[in-house]
Amino acid sequence: MIKRFLLLFSVLKIVSGSAQEITIIPMPQKAIASKGNFTISSSTTIVAEGQGLETTVNFLNNYLQQFYGFTLKAGSNSSNASNIIHLNFKKLNHPITGAYELKIGNSGVHIAGDNKEGVFYAVQSFLQMLPATKNQTLPVPHVTIEDAPRFAYRGLHLDVSRHFMPLDFVKKYIDYLAYFKLNTFHWHLTDDQGWRIEIKKYPKLTEVGGWRDGTIIGNYPGKGNDNIRTGGFYTQDEAKEIVRYAAERMITVIPEIEMPGHASAAIAAYPYLSCFPDAKTEIKGEFSKAALEKQASGQNKIVQETWGVFEDVFTPTEQTFGFLEDVLDEVMDIFPSSYVHIGGDECPKESWKKSAFCQQLIKEKGLKDEHGLQSYFIQRVEKYVNSKGRKIIGWDEILEGGLAPNATVMSWRGEAGGIEAAKQQHDVVMTPGSHLYFDHGEGKKEDSVNIGGYLPLDTVYSYDPQPAALTPAQQKYILGAQANLWTEYIKSPAKVEYMIFPRIAALSEVQWTNKANKSWKGFVKRLSSLEQRLQLLKINYNRKAFLTAK
Ligand code: ACM
Repeated sequence: MIKRFLLLFSVLKIVSGSAQEITIIPMPQKAIASKGNFTISSSTTIVAEGQGLETTVNFLNNYLQQFYGFTLKAGSNSSNASNIIHLNFKKLNHPITGAYELKIGNSGVHIAGDNKEGVFYAVQSFLQMLPATKNQTLPVPHVTIEDAPRFAYRGLHLDVSRHFMPLDFVKKYIDYLAYFKLNTFHWHLTDDQGWRIEIKKYPKLTEVGGWRDGTIIGNYPGKGNDNIRTGGFYTQDEAKEIVRYAAERMITVIPEIEMPGHASAAIAAYPYLSCFPDAKTEIKGEFSKAALEKQASGQNKIVQETWGVFEDVFTPTEQTFGFLEDVLDEVMDIFPSSYVHIGGDECPKESWKKSAFCQQLIKEKGLKDEHGLQSYFIQRVEKYVNSKGRKIIGWDEILEGGLAPNATVMSWRGEAGGIEAAKQQHDVVMTPGSHLYFDHGEGKKEDSVNIGGYLPLDTVYSYDPQPAALTPAQQKYILGAQANLWTEYIKSPAKVEYMIFPRIAALSEVQWTNKANKSWKGFVKRLSSLEQRLQLLKINYNRKAFLTAK
């Protein structure tokens, strides 16, 4: 009996003293846990060596203050210092930027990043190891991590045209990207239902195009119109504030200015941008009373109040190109990103078919048809953007009629566009609707009005951005992956959170974790720790998605 008791006791001892589970998301490439904890408290010092690490030290302290209620003092290095969080640089020679090492042992937390990004990502991993409950002392498990990203482009998009999102929430959204080591925020700033960025030379874009007088109720075509005036826009100073905020989190902001389709808001502000300035804006579903009154009193063009694709698109006149160049000049002044997203998707060709000017232009330029005209449009804009030292990225329709010479393709209608572009030796970002459209429902039964579709967590997790149809040499053109959040049916920040959590966690392993280290089973095990953390961060997540993940 005593022998059996002793045996049981020793087994328990091994279990209780053994290495703890690593619950970091995205899963690091190499992580070895060992016995023991190091405890962070207000007497722990941060020692940062290397230029430019102050913002990351501030980030770390702000996080501790916000969620645990204390900050740490910054100190200077001494070789035998203990009870420290030490941040430093170390050449790690990984082909993709952002590699880091993180060691936690008796003397403290030792971070070595290949550069500022690497140090920042190590800090994110460290923060995910802190207890998920508020306390003055925070034990973190001893661990050795060597980590680096699989892909250079790790994006998440947000549509602020269909529903405007407040500036403070955009910052929170950027924090969510940072937490999972994403590095690109694709900001969808213009569309049929609202123009959201101040352009000083064209004030009506936001005065007129930034607002609509109502929105359809329920799913398209809707059960009437709510007749509630809604909208908003970001001033250039606010947009610059977002760029700075994102940069401190190692995130690039790519602005999207849609062309030649999805242009109703711009056309409502400046009707000369349409092929038919005197034609009334087409009504699908039901317009608000105010919009109908405007049309009755002679204002033809209206900011759209319903969803879908509209025939009234930019006319390819010199005046339109002049307008777009002016807009892009201001946009490129605000956003330092190497990419400008020029949209390019869902441009119906009916207006161009009916327009004598467009037909003459097709003849004059020796273009094959309206698809050729779309290609001409995009190539002209590309030339302009390239002349300013920037590159264009566009949705996969920019392949139709011939790809602009230096364009990067965002493949959304499945992977076919991305595969074709990679074969043509163009860079590609994969964002297929089948796996990465976070506006789709997460459960089989909808719990609120959504756009439709069904995208459960395991489908997101299973995605591999490098299609087998490409050779290894062609796969090199796949820069990475991005998920998109279209907001036709997402009116509030709370619902934005609900739609992205926890799918953003699965996305991050698609983008960061090497295939050999990706494991759905392992991911599911790490989810309960994530859920506790989302509670600490007070995020409105989809609880059912956690309960049903197996
Ligand atoms: C898209 O979803 N229209 C790019």
